[in-house]
Amino acid sequence: MDVENANCKVKVSQCADMEVLPIERPLKVDVEITGLEKLIEELHSVFSRNHVNVQDVQKLMAGYKSDPKDWSKYAKFDRFRYTRNLVDAGNGAFNVMILCWGAGHASAIHDHADSHCFMKVLSGSLEEVRYEWPENVQPEVMKVLNSKKSRRKCCSESQDLQDKISELNIECQGDSCQSDSCQKRREDDGSDDEGYDVKDMKVRGRTRMDLNDVCYINDALGLHRVENPSHVDGAVSLHLYCPPFDSCRVFDARTGKPTEVKVTFWSMYGKKIKRVFESINAADSQQ
Ligand code: SIN
Repeated sequence: MDVENANCKVKVSQCADMEVLPIERPLKVDVEITGLEKLIEELHSVFSRNHVNVQDVQKLMAGYKSDPKDWSKYAKFDRFRYTRNLVDAGNGAFNVMILCWGAGHASAIHDHADSHCFMKVLSGSLEEVRYEWPENVQPEVMKVLNSKKSRRKCCSESQDLQDKISELNIECQGDSCQSDSCQKRREDDGSDDEGYDVKDMKVRGRTRMDLNDVCYINDALGLHRVENPSHVDGAVSLHLYCPPFDSCRVFDARTGKPTEVKVTFWSMYGKKIKRVFESINAADSQQ
């Protein structure tokens, strides 16, 4: 099974083909989608099936060329933080939203709650910074991969997957991990029971995303934060999450300590909503 055929209709840890989800491939775009409405219509059609290929969603999103007249009614900015504006609830199978980033606005380092995340730049530029999972926190997908791995003979795994597994620290069993490396780490760094001593989270890479660029991430690929690097201009991005989620974890960049936060919308279907609690925002996570 190739990563482009991995099923994003279900949570990452429930993908029968999850071994390929940490593998990224270059994308060839051969579709042209005229307008945001058409894109959403196509997404509904794709998500009405039981199996939705990751790459089919990426291709649809890349095939749409941003035109502000399609999305300006959803693009609501706030002075202080980026906003999340719901465009379509995807019949419960996915969420499409428009995020508006003022100059310098950024999200906190976060996971994707075992869902798939697609992101496209509609205006301006953004920087995506990817992080390794902290040693003592494990995503659901890695727990499942780990247990699969221990049930399987090493020789049946591809070298590629073995490399990914070791890169992703999936030997670690979490807070109470008794592996030699985790016990040694506790002894060496004098961590407390929670193990959240000051130790900057490891950056895996930075990617600048320009107009119409599309990226994909899931928990097997690590954590990320997104930032509008401009001190002057705003930026707008289109996000698709599947399955939708209403909470995720944000991580303290200096210790890796996770906190579960609720994620909500600034506006829905073009209408501002009253109660707003924007929790993946970098500002919120520092409180
Ligand atoms: C992001 O990927 O940084 C945006 C997070 C969100 O959905 O609020």
